[in-house]
Amino acid sequence: MTMSQFEVQNIDQTVLLWLDELQKDTISAMRQHLQVGTKRDERDLVTNVDKANEQKINALIRSFDTNAQIVSEEGFGDKPTDMNGHVWFVDPIDGTMNFVKEHTDFAIMIALYVDNQPVLGWILDVVDNVVYHGGPKIGVFANQLRIQQPEDDSLAEGVVLLSGARLLYGMFGYDQIAKAALGYRVIGAAGPSFIRVITGQAVGYSSKMMPWDFAAGQVLAKTLGLIVSDIDGQVLDMLSSNIVLVATKRAHRDIVELHKS
Ligand code: IPD
Ligand code: CA
Ligand code: CA
Ligand code: CA
Repeated sequence: MTMSQFEVQNIDQTVLLWLDELQKDTISAMRQHLQVGTKRDERDLVTNVDKANEQKINALIRSFDTNAQIVSEEGFGDKPTDMNGHVWFVDPIDGTMNFVKEHTDFAIMIALYVDNQPVLGWILDVVDNVVYHGGPKIGVFANQLRIQQPEDDSLAEGVVLLSGARLLYGMFGYDQIAKAALGYRVIGAAGPSFIRVITGQAVGYSSKMMPWDFAAGQVLAKTLGLIVSDIDGQVLDMLSSNIVLVATKRAHRDIVELHKS
């Protein structure tokens, strides 16, 4: 059953209250001693805050939406095998390297999909204390301010954001894409990169991502008329990793073509 605009607004407001608390807790934890560990390799960082935030968010979701499934990064979620019903996505700290080393350009991301349809997304820029949130039923907002659809600039007219490691090794045609753009940048985190595309600061962003990295950004970007797909232009698989591309219509066309050539 589809949700009414009223129901969607209520869920949005509830999650905004959670994020208000999480913003304060995350900033104060960042100023204290962080316990930093590694996962796959020495560049794949995880902290006590990633784990604590995920435990808090998942507990809030479970008490609010009792039949929901949760896909989250640090192991406190579920492992759904399909997208039926309510599926929430949680990235408790997106850009852990930036969080630990730069103290900026990291985010907390949450998204809700119902029967595989994007319903709501939240990307909290923790340091600036701005939540980018919304979905197809209500539009997209930066805190209370409505965001308009960005200009449909081409790749040659704008800045493209790419994953640094893949750019360095010339993977996925990223070197050709960077050369064809007016400018290119490496932000080092998915959420802050999505924010730059939905606010029109960048014409596109591509990286290999897990579902919690792109779920919220996809809701917001699609609502604003941007294109979200894999780098071949195909629909994203919500339950595995993808080479994600979010871009304006024109930049999307330019990037998919360059990737194929
Ligand atoms: C990572 C960042 C990074 C992206 C990686 C993600 P994390 O998220 O968003 O920019 O290239 O694929 O895993 O691990 O810091 O939440
Ligand atoms: Ca991580
Ligand atoms: Ca992430
Ligand atoms: Ca993370």
